Amino acid sequence: MLFFLPGLIFGQKFPDLAPTPPMGWNSWNTFKINISENLIKEIADAFVKDGYKDAGYKYIIIDDCWSLKQRDEAGNLVPDPAKFPGGMKALADYVHTRGLKIGIYSCAGTRTCGDYPGSKGFESLDAKLFASWGIDYLKYDWCNTTGLDAEKAYTTMRDALFAAGRPVVFGICDWGDNQPWLWGKKTGQLWRISGDIAPCFDCVIDHGSYKDWGVMKVVYVRKDIRKYAGPDGWNDFDMMEVGNGMTVSENRTHFTLWCMLASALIMGNDVRSADPATVGILTNKDMISVNQDTLGIQAFKYKDIDSTEVWVKPMKNKEWAVCFLNRKKEPVSLEFNWTEHKISDPDFDFKVDFSKEKFRLFNIWTGKKAGTTGNVVKAQIAGHDVLVFRLSN
Ligand code: GLA
Repeated sequence: MLFFLPGLIFGQKFPDLAPTPPMGWNSWNTFKINISENLIKEIADAFVKDGYKDAGYKYIIIDDCWSLKQRDEAGNLVPDPAKFPGGMKALADYVHTRGLKIGIYSCAGTRTCGDYPGSKGFESLDAKLFASWGIDYLKYDWCNTTGLDAEKAYTTMRDALFAAGRPVVFGICDWGDNQPWLWGKKTGQLWRISGDIAPCFDCVIDHGSYKDWGVMKVVYVRKDIRKYAGPDGWNDFDMMEVGNGMTVSENRTHFTLWCMLASALIMGNDVRSADPATVGILTNKDMISVNQDTLGIQAFKYKDIDSTEVWVKPMKNKEWAVCFLNRKKEPVSLEFNWTEHKISDPDFDFKVDFSKEKFRLFNIWTGKKAGTTGNVVKAQIAGHDVLVFRLSN
């Protein structure tokens, strides 16, 4: 009988769970070990009250350190009762009642990165437990995995989730160590491409055995992988650090890049107490619509003009998003004559010759029409800031 149910035998990923990059919030960047049921409920309330849900954010993801340090006698993971006294099912219900989805974290190794029990050898049990709670998203980490083959280990969990029967977005988090872009699309909906992000524009924080990376470092850590990203399989540039201490310009640039690069948009700040500038950035619908464009093409860097980088994202209906990014701390004057530029996508079949084709310009961050590509752009861009246009025909 089973021979006629190949899905059950070989497994597969749940299809079509992430036609556009997943949007949500994750506890790790701000809260680390200090997570609780109350925090998650308050984040869910803020999603509804402060416009995040309306802007498209959906998943609330509990990262590492949510369980007890040991499994129970039956082998099950146990939510730490001091942090989650009502248990995960009730918490998931709370989140679902608000029209949102809930995510959790585990690890392919014996222990998580924070030294809690990992899922190795317990994949099926854990997947069933998560399904019984109503979990919608699993971030699956890669600590304590000596001797494991990444593709196999992630496939084991993929199959366990599928067999458990509840659709779960599966986030691969091996930091890009095992080239997940080559196999991730059949395994999960997104894969991290770098070590952990840090709340700084271009720094590296060296912890000895590992490093954390500033925004621009994450952007540049890989080359030639945009061709692997697309609907239902995204390069994940990590949880965002918008609102975690950078300047407003840097926050805007960070968010713009994650949108241009079709990354998952997972907020990592305390959204309950975010200042108006941060909320404005994170909920800018025009910028988000670039990220959520259904063609799902990741931007590429077209050119450097002195310290200004020009990033370009082909979009549906022959539209484009074009971002001028000032890498310097000092302001820069930009003069850009569209008609001198022909742009062609290095990986996909998109081309534009601005001397032959004219587009209307919409300035995404001012929210205003900005003439056409028949005019020369003359602008000052503040240090570490961006000027972003949506081009339509
Ligand atoms: C790894 C991941 C982080 C976070 C921590 C939790 O470092 O890359 O995003 O989940 O583990 O311990």
